Amino acid sequence: MRVVSIYNNKGGEGKSTVTVGLTEFLSGNRDKSVLLIDLDAQASSASAILGHKQVVKAIEERRTSVDLINQLRAKKQIPTNTADFISVREATDARGSALAKLDVLVPDGARQFELEEQLSVRKDSALFLNLLKPALQEYDYVIVDHPANIAKRSLVPINGLVMSDMVLVPIRPTRISVGGLPRTLDMIEYAQSVAGNGSPAMVGFLLNATDRRHQQYRSNLQKYVEKAFEQSLPPVFENVWPPSPAFEAATDPRRDFRTLKDRFGDSYDHARKVALELDKKCQAFQPPKHRPSMRKSLLELLGLG
Ligand SMILES: Nc1ncnc2c1ncn2[C@@H]1O[C@H](COP(=O)(O)OP(=O)(O)OP(=O)(O)O)[C@@H](O)[C@H]1O
Ligand SMILES: [Mg+2]
Repeated sequence: MRVVSIYNNKGGEGKSTVTVGLTEFLSGNRDKSVLLIDLDAQASSASAILGHKQVVKAIEERRTSVDLINQLRAKKQIPTNTADFISVREATDARGSALAKLDVLVPDGARQFELEEQLSVRKDSALFLNLLKPALQEYDYVIVDHPANIAKRSLVPINGLVMSDMVLVPIRPTRISVGGLPRTLDMIEYAQSVAGNGSPAMVGFLLNATDRRHQQYRSNLQKYVEKAFEQSLPPVFENVWPPSPAFEAATDPRRDFRTLKDRFGDSYDHARKVALELDKKCQAFQPPKHRPSMRKSLLELLGLG
C-alpha cells in the first residue's frame, strides 16, 4: 500500500484535476484498489468522482474525514469501522474503458475549520499516520487531495501529508507557479520532521498544463528538468499533462462520465501514461536519500536561489 499526497501550496496548479485523473486510471486502467481522501474543504475531487448529491449525503450522515478524526481522537485506537466513513462510486458497466469502483473519504468543509481550532499541533499532527494508515492496508493506493495555502495549524491536511509515503507536486510552467515552490517545500519538510521517518518523500513534479515546446516551459522549468537528475534533486515526471479542454472539464461534478475515454477525451493517453509512471515509481520506491542541501540547489536551478 502506498499513500500518495497530491500537493502544491499554491492554488489552481491542478491538484484536484490530477487527483481525479490518477484515481480513475489507477483503478480503471491499472486495476488497483484505490481510496481517494479529499482533505480540501472545497471537496473538488470528491464531488468530481461522486457527484454533488452523494457528497452532501455523506456530510449529512456524518461520514466524513472530520467524523473519522473525531473518532480517532476519542478512541485512540486503530479503527475497525473505516468502511462506515467511506462513500463508494460504483463501477460503470460501459464497454471499453469503463470506470472502476472507487472509495472516497469526503471532507466536511464547514466543520473542518472548527475541528482544526480544537486540535493541537503537538498532539494531533500524526493521528492519521499512527491510527488511520494501519487500517487502510488493504488498498493498493491511497491518494490524498489537498487544499492550497496550508500552515502548521491546518491540522487536517497536515495529517494527510504526515501519513503519506510520497508527495506528487503538480506545477504549471509559469513564473508565479515556480515562485510558490519554496512554501510548498517548507510544508513538505515540516511534514517530514513530524513523521520522523524520512517520509513523505518527493516522488516528483508533474508538469501540468504544459507543452514542452512553449516559451513558458523553456524559461521557467527547462533548466531544472535537465539538471535535477544529475544533482539527485526531486525528479520531474517524464510524461506531462498538456493544457486541454478534457482536463479542464474532468473535475466538473455535473458531468456524468461513464468511461475513461469520455472523461479524458483527447488527453486519455497523457493521463494513462502519468498513472503508469507513478505506479512504476511507487513499485521501485526506495526510502528517500535527498541530501540536506536539496532545497538550496533546487531553488538555484529554478532561478530562486
Ligand atoms: N491540464 C489542464 N488543462 C486545462 N485546464 C486545467 C488543467 N489542469 C487544471 N485545469 C483547470 O485549472 C483549474 C485549477 O485546477 P484544479 O482545481 O485541479 O487545481 P487545484 O490545485 O486543485 O486548485 P485548488 O488549490 O483551488 O484546490 C480548474 O478550473 C481546472 O479545470
Ligand atoms: Mg483542488
